[in-house]
Amino acid sequence: MNYIRLRKNNLCVENISTLTLAKKYRTPFYCYSLSQLKNNFYSFKNAFKIIKPIVAFSIKSNSNLALLKELKKIGSGADVVSVGELLKAIKAGINTKKIVFSGVGKTEEEIRMAIKKRVLLINVESESEVNLVNKISKKLSKKTSIGVRLNPNVTGKTHKKISTGGRGEKFGVTYNDCINLCEKILKMKNLKLEGLSVHIGSQITNIKPFKEVLSIINKIINKIKIDFKFIDLGGGMGISYSNKEQHLNLKQYSRLVKKFIKNKNVKIIFEPGRFIIGNTGILISKIIYIKKSNNKNFIILDAGMNDLMRPALYAAQHQIIPLRKTNKKFREIVEFVGPICESSDKFLTQRGFEKIKEGDYVALTHVGAYGMSLSSNYNTRPTIAEILVSGSKHKLIKKRQSLENLINN
Ligand code: LLP
Repeated sequence: MNYIRLRKNNLCVENISTLTLAKKYRTPFYCYSLSQLKNNFYSFKNAFKIIKPIVAFSIKSNSNLALLKELKKIGSGADVVSVGELLKAIKAGINTKKIVFSGVGKTEEEIRMAIKKRVLLINVESESEVNLVNKISKKLSKKTSIGVRLNPNVTGKTHKKISTGGRGEKFGVTYNDCINLCEKILKMKNLKLEGLSVHIGSQITNIKPFKEVLSIINKIINKIKIDFKFIDLGGGMGISYSNKEQHLNLKQYSRLVKKFIKNKNVKIIFEPGRFIIGNTGILISKIIYIKKSNNKNFIILDAGMNDLMRPALYAAQHQIIPLRKTNKKFREIVEFVGPICESSDKFLTQRGFEKIKEGDYVALTHVGAYGMSLSSNYNTRPTIAEILVSGSKHKLIKKRQSLENLINN
């Protein structure tokens, strides 16, 4: 089901025309559909219903508090990677027994907080981290549940900047180190080895790497004969950013996992980010200028790479659509760019784009994941507002940063 779509030539989010929103709120801003969010969460759960996993939403993909509260209401847990994300998850009301703490560089302060808050698992990524978690647990007289993150040396075919499962990456511990580390942890007094975790990358649309990972985990389990309480399979499930792309077949993944857990007494954890939130959001922006140069129309938006980093960082292509469909087309190539002083501040280059003019608005689509959460103050620009639509209602869920706040430090 698609809750962000054209209705009578007007782009609508649920029952609201985006033009109405563009006139009410100052552009640029992010706008999300609550029904889309719920729909995605339930379809995820439904696809995996035969294995009943813990779904720990990956907060790094979008950490808006109002959205986290909505996810909490429908049963989501959280995957966090910093004390900030941990406290935000707790503030949203998410039960700490549904929170997993991942990350290759947790500080002492972060580990202490995670132990005190009794999160479900701290997924450790090195021997030094294991020693530190044990030391802090001892000081606090606690026995801490931990998982070991395996680096399976499997890469999903994805952008190299978001691939994490390869041998050369900083993430997790290798097959042999994983076995040795697990054996060491079993002897440590203040640690409980409960989990094995993996996360091989993001935006993976092919099932094959997930299949390989499951078989490697099986090998480890057979070798060390530990009954892990949890196997945390991470996130990474890819979505389709355009009609041409396919998304990951979750049902197929589910069947594989079902086979994997047969005869094991284990709970599966997933940490999806993009799959839950990616297509729930659009970025609405106004055309400040159109500049024709060398047979190209530069369409200069009021949104820049500081608001949406993905195209500059990963050459990601987000579709751009005018809020109101027009029938005429540009004859020249159009290039959508932002106002930032960098040539990488461009969103999309396209031929045959609908005719639009200065002052019109457009939407960049599928920006719910890693849109706002990757934004910055670069060029000393305030972070922008976020709006939530539900049915025929809309509300501000994060204010645009004030200039006063921006310039005071
Ligand atoms: N778990 C761990 C340990 C992760 O590192 C990540 C993402 C996830 C779960 C969630 O992955 P997802 O289901 O969203 O693919 N900024 C990049 C994506 C970076 C992903 C980082 N880790 C982008 O905009 O494509």
